Amino acid sequence: MSVATPRRGGAADPARLLAWEVLRAVDERGAYANLMLPALMAGRRLSSRDRGLATELTYGSLRAMGTLDGVLGTVTSRPVDTVDPPVRDALRLGTYQLLSTRVPARAAVASTVDLVRATCGERPVRFANAVLRRVAARIEETEGDIAVLLSAPDVNVDPAGHLTVVTAHPRWIVDVVLEALGGDAAAARAALVANDTRPTVHLVARPGRISADELVEQAAAVGLRARRSVFSPYAVYLDGGDPGALPAVRAGAAAVQDEGSQLVALALAAVPTVGRLTGLTVDLCAGPGGKAALLAGALAADQPPAFGQPPAADQPSPSQPGQPPRAERRPRLLALEPRAARAGLVEASLAGFPDAWTVRADGRLPPVRPGTADRVLVDVPCSGLGALRRRPEARWRRTPADVAALVPLQRQLLVAALDLVRPGGVVAYVTCSPHPEETSEVVMAVVRQRADIAILDARRSEALAGALAGTSAEGPFVQLWPHLHGTDAMFLALLRRRSD
Ligand SMILES: C[S@@+](CC[C@H](N)C(=O)[O-])C[C@H]1O[C@@H](n2cnc3c(N)ncnc32)[C@H](O)[C@@H]1O
Repeated sequence: MSVATPRRGGAADPARLLAWEVLRAVDERGAYANLMLPALMAGRRLSSRDRGLATELTYGSLRAMGTLDGVLGTVTSRPVDTVDPPVRDALRLGTYQLLSTRVPARAAVASTVDLVRATCGERPVRFANAVLRRVAARIEETEGDIAVLLSAPDVNVDPAGHLTVVTAHPRWIVDVVLEALGGDAAAARAALVANDTRPTVHLVARPGRISADELVEQAAAVGLRARRSVFSPYAVYLDGGDPGALPAVRAGAAAVQDEGSQLVALALAAVPTVGRLTGLTVDLCAGPGGKAALLAGALAADQPPAFGQPPAADQPSPSQPGQPPRAERRPRLLALEPRAARAGLVEASLAGFPDAWTVRADGRLPPVRPGTADRVLVDVPCSGLGALRRRPEARWRRTPADVAALVPLQRQLLVAALDLVRPGGVVAYVTCSPHPEETSEVVMAVVRQRADIAILDARRSEALAGALAGTSAEGPFVQLWPHLHGTDAMFLALLRRRSD
């Protein structure tokens, strides 16, 4: 992998140099830090202390970039975005150390100046030194209180403006999170702060392939600490270490999969359908295949109601008098994905499931007769705002235009899913986002156009009972959150095609 190598000689601290190289790659080539950092680290001989420092500086600086630029803006006479980018990235790293680490101010300034000299030459050294000394002085004056340093608006007067500054997120994302949480500033702050935490690795023990208990035992056998979740019966939490060390992961019997993704797929598998079963489940947007494999396993095991009895009222049991027995038709899963590389990944993840097929196709034109599926999962392409904690730079890359561009496709895919499901069957509309424009508003816009759709109360899904216990969000949709559920911010709507 080619990297932005230092342009000039001189001694730079190896951890800071590595962090700077990742920041340059992110800035210059749109690299993903979570892929770039381990790749670069693999080629260096670094102490574990330096690895830890490089990781903290890289991820911390990328997450806080807007705040760091704001702080730099208070001490430079020209706009920060006019500073030579390699110098600017070094200044961001220095400012991050001054603001958010225990590195003594003198060492933070000196090491950043060394980094500038080593990577950019002698010319910008005086400028960098002066800027960082002023930053250090400002931080000392304000006791490091970022709200004071950046003159954040009062939280009671302008909650979004305040949160923008103190949580280091772009204003539009703060607005989205506030809206999704009903304007509750304290909850929004917790949700935004959670984007700065590194998520626990969640594994899925694919039903029919390996049990969660067996996976925990296997982890212990290879020296990894793992434990079962109390929410998804198939989830295992890994307390560090490489998931690839597990034979089950290498064999595809288990995989890394956020528990929120597991729960929404299981909610679809668990919701009873009404009327004659066809046995067909379709995953309309399957790549890379995580939910498809879980659905295939859960449906084949025919044990989704492992979560208990279906709730009454709008979720009638399939085995009511006069209805066919549940297993009249063998469950089959059809997974669609238009992109070749991703379709290949779906195929690989479904390899152990003989009744699951992958077809490369556009979900808007599925090669299946309308009205024939018992269940359809439509996990639409979305902004990914629900997984910001996984990509440190993502919050500054995404724009409102990304969301607006996706909404028409999301609506079309939901319409296609509703056409595909048979009367009495159920569609799960899923996004990894809490943005109302691509979650509830898409669902409501589509459902308003159709008289044949009933919205189910997804909160009543037994699959979600454990995760939602003790929370009191409004229905009928479910929004999971990192700060509440420890999952990505997955959205779920369950829609039944009326049979009357
Ligand atoms: C959010 S991801 C799905 C994740 C998947 N369900 C999983 O759990 O692994 C959305 C997927 O939709 C695919 N996609 C994009 N446009 C599509 C279309 N017109 N029809 C079907 N799928 C599409 C993308 O390539 C991407 O793989």
